[in-house]
Amino acid sequence: MSKTIAEELKKEVDKRRTFAIISHPDAGKTTLTEKLLLFGGAIREAGSVKARKASKHATSDWMEIEKQRGISVTSSVMQFDYKGHRINILDTPGHQDFSEDTYRTLTAADSAVMLIDVAKGVEAQTVKLFQVCAKRGIPIFTFINKLDREGRSPFDLMEELEEVLGIRSVPMNWPIGTGRDLCGVYDRVHNQVELFQGNDHSEIEVRKVDGYEDPIIREMAGEFLHDQLCQDLELLDVAGDPFDLEKVKRGELTPVFFGSAINNFGVQTFLENFLELAPKPTPRNSTAGMIDPLEDEKFSGYIFKIQANMNPAHRDRIAFMRICSGKFQRGMSVRHVRAGKEIKLAQPQQFLAQDRDIVQEAFPGDIIGLFDPGIFRIGDSLSQGSDVVFDELPTFSPEIFAKVTVKNALKHKQYQKGIDQLTEEGTIQVFQSASGFDETILGVVGQLQFEVFEYRMKGEYGVDIQLHRMTYQFARWIVDENKIDPGKFRINSQLVTDKKGNYVVLFENEYAMRTAMDKNPTAKFLETAP
Ligand code: G4P
Repeated sequence: MSKTIAEELKKEVDKRRTFAIISHPDAGKTTLTEKLLLFGGAIREAGSVKARKASKHATSDWMEIEKQRGISVTSSVMQFDYKGHRINILDTPGHQDFSEDTYRTLTAADSAVMLIDVAKGVEAQTVKLFQVCAKRGIPIFTFINKLDREGRSPFDLMEELEEVLGIRSVPMNWPIGTGRDLCGVYDRVHNQVELFQGNDHSEIEVRKVDGYEDPIIREMAGEFLHDQLCQDLELLDVAGDPFDLEKVKRGELTPVFFGSAINNFGVQTFLENFLELAPKPTPRNSTAGMIDPLEDEKFSGYIFKIQANMNPAHRDRIAFMRICSGKFQRGMSVRHVRAGKEIKLAQPQQFLAQDRDIVQEAFPGDIIGLFDPGIFRIGDSLSQGSDVVFDELPTFSPEIFAKVTVKNALKHKQYQKGIDQLTEEGTIQVFQSASGFDETILGVVGQLQFEVFEYRMKGEYGVDIQLHRMTYQFARWIVDENKIDPGKFRINSQLVTDKKGNYVVLFENEYAMRTAMDKNPTAKFLETAP
């Protein structure tokens, strides 16, 4: 690689951080994102992101269903600069109706910020999103939010992280008081206290101290809170895990920060520590070996999400691409490896905090939106020069199932075309009965995927469908050296095949699943396709 290109790439890669915020709805993700964007100057007023969430995307042309529901159907991305860093935040829908897209988006992140409500602790959606990140072994940073409210004890929350998520934690700061008594935090890394000032806690005073026993803290916080702080931190010093960056990088230890997003308390310190500790764009595995953004000069990237109908008038789709190596330039020609042809990337878009913008150049770690006239599929690799195929994106186990029928039998051809294309796009997963009936079953991880599917079948293929909800809750891909007998899976379960012909068993409940596992000891039941 020429020296100037290598230097430019290194400079750009070093300053980038691409991460996702994972949380359960209501933990404060919108609020935290907004504060981060404010620090970066990407938005001018508090309330902008919130307004976007609430105003049902008045200024953009998201698909109709998003407008009706007022939520983001598919995840998007926001970019901003802060103190020499370029930050890409991958947004994952906070609504209960999240989808497989949410999971796939996490594959484009190099690290994750896990946001937890101090009163509620680890909640259901956080667990699911955490598990996807944990499987990839990416670093996870924890922000415990709403410290201005009464909540659980920090020790209790740390224990829950370990018990529910199986991850050890290391507090980077520690609250001085909680709820109404909260007066600040002690920063264990920088040996300083950050104290709330004023009745509305709107000002923050930062004081360097000589350890947590420093009498200055006593003067500022009072005897009672200081004694409590000393007791807690002594215990942490003795019994807590020491900070170990290597463990953090492997996703075995999560640095924990306490704060209150709405009061902007602890957010800036969190951001600065995070930027220092979080990884820059990491290498990705491919058929050509590891593609390292610092070593591979040629451009490469992969599509992790396709968003349809962002502009209903044009029926266009946007394919979201994560850049893995090289420099992206507008109008460049790249190889669409699966299609086996060169394509020109003419109208790339980048997603700033508020608007979409045509991007002129971009670097590893960046996410850009490509205009898609129907040529891309989820997982497609694009590369310059030789063919590079990145590892296939995982398929996630669906949890909600429905039998699908077409209302007008004459539309069967369009129906089949719609099913084929929407499955390829990753909108839904499709299964066929393995017992000889002509029965098509759809599987999703969020109810919203069904609504999107129904809407698009009608809008794009002119087909009215009917969905009949089934009682199954789990899908497991089954691999067995012995012949698989559909007759064995009749009670509270059913054997089906996926689009590649792999056998999958659908179960109504955990009990049925356990029983099947016991009765088929030679079989492996997998959560994702083999
Ligand atoms: P989400 O995107 O994760 O769903 O959460 P969001 O930011 O919308 O926050 C959910 C609620 O929690 C909001 O209140 C928000 O104001 C509040 N919140 C966020 N951070 C904090 C915090 O640090 N402390 C406290 N006390 N509350 C916080 P809401 O009543 O639902 O909405 P709003 O009327 O305040 O906008």
